[in-house]
This record gives sequence, C-alpha cells and structure tokens, in this order.
Amino acid sequence: MSTADILPFFRAWIRNPLSVAAVAPTGATASSLMVQGITAKTGPIIELGPGTGVFTRALLKRGVKQQDLTLVEYGSDFIPLLQHRFPGARVLWMDAAWLYRAQLFEGAPVGAVVSGLGLLTMSPEKVRAILEGAFFYLRSGGAFYQITYRPHCPVADAIMAGLGLQATCIGQTFRNLPPAWVYRISRLPQRD
Ligand SMILES: C[S@@+](CC[C@H](N)C(=O)[O-])C[C@H]1O[C@@H](n2cnc3c(N)ncnc32)[C@H](O)[C@@H]1O
Repeated sequence: MSTADILPFFRAWIRNPLSVAAVAPTGATASSLMVQGITAKTGPIIELGPGTGVFTRALLKRGVKQQDLTLVEYGSDFIPLLQHRFPGARVLWMDAAWLYRAQLFEGAPVGAVVSGLGLLTMSPEKVRAILEGAFFYLRSGGAFYQITYRPHCPVADAIMAGLGLQATCIGQTFRNLPPAWVYRISRLPQRD
C-alpha cells in the first residue's frame, strides 16, 4: 500500500467516516483473496466502492482488461483519482443501491461483482437493493465477492434467503488492518 493510496483515503474517511467505513485501503493480501477466482475470461466485472482502486489494480494483475471494468463509487473524492488511474474503465459516480435502475448492461453478461462496500453500516433495505441490483446483471454461475471485517457474511440471513443466495467464506487474512474475511455469494442451485 503506497502513500498515494493512504492520503486520499484518509482524507475521504475524515470527511465521511460512515460511508468510507475503513481508515485505510485494503492491503495486498486481502486484495489478492478478493480477486483469486477472477481471470481475463470472467468478462464484464462490476466493482462497488473501489475507493483508491486497490482491488481494481489486483484485477488488472489477474489479466482483466480495463475495458471490462465498471467502477461504481459514491465518494466524490475518489472519482477524479479513479478516472486518472484507470482511463479505460467505466467510472460511475453513483450509489450502488441504484444499480438496478441505472441500466448498466443489456441483459446479464457480468461474470463477477467485487465489493469493498461497508455493508455492516448500511440499512437492510440498502443491502438488499445492492444485492438485487448486482444479481440482476450477474450471469448464471457469476458471483459477488464481498470483503468484511468480521468472521461471518455481512448480509443478513433473511436477505440471503429472500433473494435465493448462499455465501461461502473463501479466505481470511490477519495481514490486514483490520483482519479481513472474503465471502463468495452466489445463487442457490435451482430445485426441480
Ligand atoms: C471500506 S472502503 C473500501 C475501498 C476499497 N475497495 C478498499 O478496499 O480499499 C468503502 C468504499 O465504498 C464507497 N461507498 C460507500 N457507500 C457507497 C455506496 N452506497 N455506493 C458506492 N460506493 C460507496 C466509499 O466511498 C469507499 O470508497
């Protein structure tokens, strides 16, 4: 993690601690865990709450093309920085709860959604809207990757059950401040 990431992140946190939800950007180990299941073949990817772009950079290291990235960020401080760092990506200054209404894609072509959002500080209605919007664009077999700072999925069981979703912990690291867990959220298999 470089000072080029820490300073803008810290400034944004001072201005809006609830929304930014962490004092420092995610470290390299947790970022790698977040993108371990993603390759250049995943196709279009939505990233929610990219901040300074630590997961974005990890995605590019996995071979993902900038043209395949849609970055959805609500913090206005981060927008010019993301546009400058990832000129080939689509950068949207938008609340992630508006995904569904934003008509980002025709159909459901998205292979993965990568989320650094602080879901634990959001209302259940907002969390539900974010997941519903994300799965509207995720194709069959696509997955939603969520980082969190507690050893359980940050989406309430009732929301998961209501949307027909399941969560699996795919990694954890204590080499992060705070320690981090990564969950892969996917559709439950259809019953005949
Ligand atoms: C904990 S930070 C994570 C930043 C980065 N992904 C990382 O891991 O370092 C949460 C990010 O989500 C953004 N954010 C918070 N609420 C949001 C919302 N409703 N829609 C889109 N972005 C949001 C914040 O501005 C911040 O950049």
